[in-house]
Amino acid sequence: MSYHKLSLFFLYTLTVLITLYLAGYGWEYYSLPMHERARHELHEEWKPTGFIGQGAGIIGSAFMVVLLLYSLRKRWRPMQQGWGDIRYWLNYHIWMGITGPVLVIFHTTFKFGGIVAVSFWSMVAVALSGVLGRYLYLQIPRSLSGEELSATELAELEERTRRHFSSEVSGNPKALQILERFIEENTAHSGGLMNWLTRDLTATLRYRALRRRLQHEAGLTSHDAKHLVDLAKRRALLDRRIAFLATARKLLHHWHVFHKPFAIIMLVIMVVHIAVAISLGYTWIF
Ligand code: HEM
Repeated sequence: MSYHKLSLFFLYTLTVLITLYLAGYGWEYYSLPMHERARHELHEEWKPTGFIGQGAGIIGSAFMVVLLLYSLRKRWRPMQQGWGDIRYWLNYHIWMGITGPVLVIFHTTFKFGGIVAVSFWSMVAVALSGVLGRYLYLQIPRSLSGEELSATELAELEERTRRHFSSEVSGNPKALQILERFIEENTAHSGGLMNWLTRDLTATLRYRALRRRLQHEAGLTSHDAKHLVDLAKRRALLDRRIAFLATARKLLHHWHVFHKPFAIIMLVIMVVHIAVAISLGYTWIF
């Protein structure tokens, strides 16, 4: 496992552990009606202005500011070279975009109201829409550094993938026939976003059925069938991504138009909320 994957594994494990701790330990407190919370032993530390409650808010908000560094890395010329793989930046952006809102939810103690609620629900909209954005982002073939492939690079990649696929399958005409039909069907039926989504969500079932067919009809071992299914999967996905590249680009563009304004509303109200909390002396930091 690469250092990058290891770091993500560690970070997501941390997120899960912290969430389980806060939800499990605070369950009794959070499930009390508002007027009874003040008498609970956790109240002093876990209320939104307490050490734990406010701490969660501060760290969560900090994450939501730091994750914007992704935009800088992507757009600001001095950071466009020598600052590491942009895909890694996006992965940390996503980790902070998930962990930040989770911490902020604990800071609110599950009480959502007033103008800050607009910030809160914008945060939820941004984070949830991020999942769709991530999916769309993956539909556009990219280089190892995360940049979109040029037309020439794309043609080369397609040719390489086809050649590799053909050389691996050429010895078994029956397997070739099954796989070619499978790839054709998978590319031809993927006209729109909902279609891609449903097909991708059910892909595991179809790949499993394909593997069984290869074993039974083309006489392959389980290991060889798996290898060929992996190659076919890669080819089918690439063919589809090339065929619908323009659509994917357009959808990602529209998605940006949704994701960004909510991020801005959330951040502006968050800044006002923090300024008000500091000026009213509601924070233990100052
Ligand atoms: C509250 C949390 C979040 C905020 C404030 C936020 C903010 C942003 C902003 C401002 C951008 C535009 C970057 C640019 O093009 O300059 C962006 C892009 C993006 N975000 Fe988030 N985001 C959040 C959470 C998430 C989550 C949870 C995910 C995924 C699950 C996600 C996935 C993405 C993706 C895929 C892009 C597009 C990358 C690209 O086209 O280069 N975001 N985000």
